[in-house]
Amino acid sequence: MYGEAERVLGRALEGGRDRAVVATKIWTNSASEGEAQAGRALSSFGGRVELYQVHNLVAWRQQLLLLERLRDKGKVVAIGATHYSPFAFAELAEVMRTGRVDAVQIPYNPREREVDRAILPLADELGLGVVVMRPFAEGALMRRPPPERSLAPLHPFGVRTWAQALLKWILSDPRCHVTIPATSRKGRTAENAEAGDPPWFGAEERELVSRLADE
Ligand SMILES: NC(=O)c1ccc[n+]([C@@H]2O[C@H](COP(=O)([O-])OP(=O)(O)OC[C@H]3O[C@@H](n4cnc5c(N)ncnc54)[C@H](OP(=O)(O)O)[C@@H]3O)[C@@H](O)[C@H]2O)c1
Repeated sequence: MYGEAERVLGRALEGGRDRAVVATKIWTNSASEGEAQAGRALSSFGGRVELYQVHNLVAWRQQLLLLERLRDKGKVVAIGATHYSPFAFAELAEVMRTGRVDAVQIPYNPREREVDRAILPLADELGLGVVVMRPFAEGALMRRPPPERSLAPLHPFGVRTWAQALLKWILSDPRCHVTIPATSRKGRTAENAEAGDPPWFGAEERELVSRLADE
C-alpha cells in the first residue's frame, strides 16, 4: 500500500531502532497475504512493531487474530484499528468495544470534527490511544494560512507557524496522543515535530485556532 515505505524506514532506523516507536498497518482481506505483509514489516523493523493497525477495518476479525498471535510472541506491542471516514465510525466503535485494540487512528482537525461525537469520548472512556491522521485536512488547511500576526497569542506556547498551531490544537486535546502530518519536505519534519512539546493550549487558544481555520 505504501510502496517502499517500510523497507526504507527500516533502513533509516538502522543503528537507532531502539529509540523509535514504529507504527504500521495490515491491509488485505486475505489471511495469507496478511501473514506475508506482517512478515515483511517485521523483517524491516528488527522483528518488532510497536503499534500494528488493521487498516480501514478490512477483514478486522481475521486480521486481529494474526496481530494477537504476534503480540503473544512479543513481536507486536500494541494493536490498533484505523478508519478515515465517518461512514465507518459505528463499526470502528464496535471494534473498540471488543477490548481487542489498544489504539485507533482517525482524522481530526478544526474542519473535520466528526470524531468529537462518539469516537473520542469512547476512546477516552476505554483508555485507548488515539493517533490523529489528516491534521492539515490533507493540505487544505495550509492553502491560505492566516497572517503571521494572528499567531502572536500562541508564541508563549512555542508556536511559530500555522502548521504548528494546527498540530498543537490536536495534541492539546487530552484524548489525542499522536498526530502524523505528512510532508515531502525534510525541513518541515523538524518544524512539525516541535509542536509535540508542551506547554499545551487551553480552551481559549484552541478556540482561536478553530476561528483562524474557518476564515
Ligand atoms: N489521507 C488518508 O486517507 C490517510 C489514510 C491513512 C493514513 N494516512 C496517513 O496520514 C498522514 C497524514 O497525511 P494526509 O495526506 O492525510 O495529510 P495531512 O498531513 O493533513 O497534510 C499533508 C499536506 O500538508 C502539507 N504540509 C505538511 N507539513 C507542512 C508544513 N509544516 N507547512 C506547510 N505545509 C505542510 C504537505 O505538503 P508538503 O509535502 O509540500 O510539505 C501536504 O500537502 C500520512 O502519514 C498518511 O500516510 C492518510
